[in-house]
Amino acid sequence: MCDTGYSVRELVADLRLLAHDRLDDAAMARAVPDLVKRLVLMRHNWLRPYMCVAGEGAAAGLHALHEEPDHTLAIFVVTWLPGDETPPHDHGTWAVIAGLDGHETNHWWKRFDDGTVPGYADVRRAGSERIDASHIVAMAGDAIHSLHNDSGAPSTTLHVYGRNVDYTDRHKYDPARHALASYKLGATTRADSLPQEAT
Ligand SMILES: [Fe+2]
Repeated sequence: MCDTGYSVRELVADLRLLAHDRLDDAAMARAVPDLVKRLVLMRHNWLRPYMCVAGEGAAAGLHALHEEPDHTLAIFVVTWLPGDETPPHDHGTWAVIAGLDGHETNHWWKRFDDGTVPGYADVRRAGSERIDASHIVAMAGDAIHSLHNDSGAPSTTLHVYGRNVDYTDRHKYDPARHALASYKLGATTRADSLPQEAT
């Protein structure tokens, strides 16, 4: 029997090739979704229930699939419970998010101030789209988005980042108070001890 599927290991190999070409942030955000789509289609081969456990309280459940020793090319399975949502935030690196199970809503935000006043930001919502297994969103490092599981059921998504966002200079935004602050995910789990099936 011949397995023609696409694996996390193959995605990592392809991402390394793209990274080797030193594509810029926007080019990576254009190139990576086609690769991620292949992995999503093959999720029955690698996605396991223990990877899809929700976090405590309002925290997302995070399962690291891969991260390079220099913290680039970070891949996570993220699970949100119904009602969970993030504040508007940027990543400081390119990001690609794909649905694996269930669905949630991605909100886009636009910044209107010029960024010259420390701690101040005027961000306003600028569109929304649903993320599910048939729809992937991608963004460069300065894009601002938020996620909301408004589906009524747990939602599991695949997140691929140019760099683990705990190692980037990124921000969360408070639209009501016109404020911004540093934003860390707490996703520092290293992937080199993962079971073989996850790779
Ligand atoms: Fe995000």
